[in-house]
Amino acid sequence: MPRVLRAAVDADRDTVLTWRNHPDVRAVSLTTHVISPEEHAKWWEAAMGDPRRHILIFDDKGVVIFDLREDPPSWSFYLDVAGLGGTLLATWMRLEQAAVRYAFDELGLERLGGETLATNAQVLALHRRFGFRETKRYERLIDGTPQTVVWTERVREH
Ligand SMILES: CC(C)(COP(=O)(O)OP(=O)(O)OC[C@H]1O[C@@H](n2cnc3c(N)ncnc32)[C@H](O)[C@@H]1OP(=O)(O)O)[C@@H](O)C(=O)NCCC(=O)NCCS
Repeated sequence: MPRVLRAAVDADRDTVLTWRNHPDVRAVSLTTHVISPEEHAKWWEAAMGDPRRHILIFDDKGVVIFDLREDPPSWSFYLDVAGLGGTLLATWMRLEQAAVRYAFDELGLERLGGETLATNAQVLALHRRFGFRETKRYERLIDGTPQTVVWTERVREH
């Protein structure tokens, strides 16, 4: 059986950009402009070549990014919103479960954090369900407008 989360390869690059540029994903992101192929290629090359960053493809339906450059490490994700239609919530749950397992079992992390816009109630509820707790919130300029960002964190269960 193929692994649910697999390391991205360069053949995934253009698909991931299509997912990231979906209006619903941009609306909940920390930068909302349409990412150009050039900007994406630059980010992709840097992230793929960095042992402290992991781009993983979830069941060909979404992407999970772990960033271990800071302590605590953080993660982010987005799905193929256009392709998934009504199954979005179920896929979110499977993705989050797989991501949490990967972070603690495969990467061996002790803590995992993430940034979510305060307006993104569905994802905040999902994080709560998977044991993430809000530890701080702060304002961030999102395309020139201050918005509240919620930092949620989970520790490894021993
Ligand atoms: C949606 C989400 C992944 C967007 O992430 P983001 O706003 O791009 O922010 P990240 O912290 O992941 O990105 C870090 C950097 O990589 C860049 N980046 C991320 N993905 C990129 C891509 N595909 N192409 C180019 N650059 C990218 C960002 O622009 C940012 O650059 P900066 O640090 O120079 O500002 C993130 O906000 C998130 O995980 N939110 C909660 C989960 C959620 O709601 N997901 C969507 C549901 S479908």
